[in-house]
Amino acid sequence: MYVMAIANQKGGCGKTTTTINLAASLAHMGKKVLVVDFDPQAHATTGLGINPDSLEFSIYDVLSSLSQARASIDAIVKEVSPNLYLAPSGILLSTLEQELADEIGRETRLWDVLSRMESDYNYVIIDCPPNLGFLTVNALRAANEVFIPIEMSFFSFNGVNQLLDIINLVRERLNHNVDYRILMTMFDSRLQYSYHVQDSIRERFGDKVAKTIIHINVKLREAASHGKPALFYDKYCRGAKDYLALARELLSRVEPPRPLDSDWKPENRIETRSMQKSMDIGRDMPERIVEFVFPDPQAKEVFVAGDFNAWRLGDEAKLEKRNGVWVKTINLPPGRYRYRFVVDGKWVDDPNNPLKEKNPYGELDSLLNIG
Ligand SMILES: Nc1ncnc2c1ncn2[C@@H]1O[C@H](COP(=O)(O)OP(=O)(O)OP(=O)(O)O)[C@@H](O)[C@H]1O
Ligand SMILES: [Mg+2]
Repeated sequence: MYVMAIANQKGGCGKTTTTINLAASLAHMGKKVLVVDFDPQAHATTGLGINPDSLEFSIYDVLSSLSQARASIDAIVKEVSPNLYLAPSGILLSTLEQELADEIGRETRLWDVLSRMESDYNYVIIDCPPNLGFLTVNALRAANEVFIPIEMSFFSFNGVNQLLDIINLVRERLNHNVDYRILMTMFDSRLQYSYHVQDSIRERFGDKVAKTIIHINVKLREAASHGKPALFYDKYCRGAKDYLALARELLSRVEPPRPLDSDWKPENRIETRSMQKSMDIGRDMPERIVEFVFPDPQAKEVFVAGDFNAWRLGDEAKLEKRNGVWVKTINLPPGRYRYRFVVDGKWVDDPNNPLKEKNPYGELDSLLNIG
């Protein structure tokens, strides 16, 4: 079970939208996902099509000691769609902090509940309220990782330092390490300003910034008002695609797929000098130098991710800009590889390679056959 908190004390930066759509994307990819709505506003509950007023129990009843009907989390969870489950919220959750004021270990309450859950989820995603109070601290204590959505304005990342201070406090006082990632949301690619803000965020937070960018897309708003993740509302809209890309980036980091050619070991590597040509130096393991080229001089950052690098977007996957095109050479042993480019956070197939194959996420992977 991998637990993620989606937190930022700033209101309206995309926490709930990220919770709902990342969860739906992971569920679509075959992962069993539980959304914990940890905001008394219950927006994630509504956004997943459930009216909080119609419910007898919510997450409050699981955490409270006062609640007459103290329920188990398994009992309150609702199945929203295949693989996607919700622990709903309600307005009473706002009273919990006061209620537990004198309780020892109150900051670990949510973690205690999640760790004793009977159902086995691959991912738990906690939607936090817009403050750094008791509920957010509980979510951070329960989480392996926190996603911090930041919308594209220079003011919006001022508060992030306070959240990082709280993460440090959780480490020092509660002895719990939680990793974090910044997620850029509501990116408007028509505005030069968005690119300036993006540069500042990447400069300030470096590799802690998710490669995937969430663009502004009215379908995300519409889908929420219909009580659905964008993937179920309009699966071809940009919002749905962005969150699928984010889920994919997360999976490649948390549970990278095994390369196809698992028998290949670095010591089998044979260096060749000729570009783009198979050099049969040694019959057993001829290796080819493959040059990946992406022809977009306007792009700011390009990666190549595929079976050969476990779909990881580290420095070794980064293309270099040479004479106006993006280039990367990689030595590859014979095999069949799937790959895609990631251009300024967006996953695209190789425009110069006609060989493509549909992947399980409904997008196209480019194909490379060597040997
Ligand atoms: N990428 C996007 N494009 C367009 N609209 C978006 C996008 N992300 C979020 N929104 C809209 O912006 C509003 C605020 O988003 P959301 O509710 O996800 O923020 P939040 O951080 O959860 O807010 P709160 O702090 O109140 O919990 C919502 O109406 C949502 O539909
Ligand atoms: Mg919210």
